[in-house]
Amino acid sequence: MNPRLTTLYEYPFERLARLKTGVSPPADRRHIAMSIGEPQHAPPEFLLEALRRHVGELDSYPTTQGLAALREACAGWLTRRYALKEGSVDPGTMVLPVNGTREALFAFVQAAIAERPGALVAMPNPFYQIYEGAALLAGAAPCYLDTLAGNGYLPDLAAVPPAVWQRCQVLFLCSPGNPTGAVLPLEYLERALDLAERHDFIIASDECYADIYLDEQAPPPGLLEACEASGRTRFERCVVFHSLSKRSSVPGLRSGFVAGDPRLIARFHLYRTYHGSAMPVPTQHGSRLAWQDDAHAAANRALYQEKFARVLPLLAPVLAVERPAAAFYLWPEVGGDDEAFARALFAREHVTVLPGSYLGRPAARTNPGAGRVRISLVPPLAQCLEAAERIRNFLGSRA
Ligand SMILES: Cc1ncc(COP(=O)(O)O)c(C=O)c1O
Repeated sequence: MNPRLTTLYEYPFERLARLKTGVSPPADRRHIAMSIGEPQHAPPEFLLEALRRHVGELDSYPTTQGLAALREACAGWLTRRYALKEGSVDPGTMVLPVNGTREALFAFVQAAIAERPGALVAMPNPFYQIYEGAALLAGAAPCYLDTLAGNGYLPDLAAVPPAVWQRCQVLFLCSPGNPTGAVLPLEYLERALDLAERHDFIIASDECYADIYLDEQAPPPGLLEACEASGRTRFERCVVFHSLSKRSSVPGLRSGFVAGDPRLIARFHLYRTYHGSAMPVPTQHGSRLAWQDDAHAAANRALYQEKFARVLPLLAPVLAVERPAAAFYLWPEVGGDDEAFARALFAREHVTVLPGSYLGRPAARTNPGAGRVRISLVPPLAQCLEAAERIRNFLGSRA
């Protein structure tokens, strides 16, 4: 087997399962799972209906490029969501459907990395774990850019020496960020574009939380928007990753798309024809409708906004927790060992949260996730409120 497999880290949820092994939580309280970012709101009925209507179309192999109508819907959504100029995203050459962004983030790096000594893939730290695994299996070393409270949870691009950028082949950005919920401002994205141009690397921007944000007046900007704002109308060196998992609450559908620089999309398309990851036709039909409709995404977002509005006042008096700009996570400091906190909270209150250190690496000095936990506000509101009360209880009993 590929010896690089031995370089992969244990996945956070396996570590979490081990952490909870042998612990007996109170059986009289139902379990509240807030560790995994798996949306649980009801998906839009029209999407489910489209899947049922098209289920008969499983009798042919789908193409890698997917239906033109789906790619047009994706391009249309990008244009509306980021107020791009009409026609700036060509659905024929700039968009590809993917089976969820997870596989696409991984596969893109396999297609992008040119193996040479010292090859780097830069990424925020803490980070969505696929970035690192993709880099390691492609034969590149991860270069971790810490996202700390002191710099607004934004990776400090200016702190990276030019010699490191010279070795960088792909820079991952994640905005809105998981786990911090931080949003990269447009000027920040433009600075990243300047660096990519100067040092000739690709920016892979993971924007799968694009439609989950707290301030209705401030939708998070995107990388293609920054390209257009700075005159890069062919989205040179850029790919963005978008997903229906969070936007439409269908994590099981496995539906997303990549869009951007047509040269990169063409090469990635070639890679994917061999990789064998075409999207089933019924999924394409349902997805097309979902990208065309913004009302259900707004209703979904409102549910998260309500959760933040109700949960934060309960937790803020007892925990160092901030209101994020976007996504659906809380990222509080727990005043000590995050693993011990998560384990004890599970043992006493039957609430599962994810130790922050599982999502980061001790790159520069310490692990920037240490001393924090990630709390996903994905359960129904009543359960989120119940969990907040239990966390208060837990912290009260420790005092
Ligand atoms: C930052 C980030 N990127 C990508 C994904 C993958 O989403 P999907 O494969 O469902 O599109 C997730 C899922 O939790 C995520 O948090």
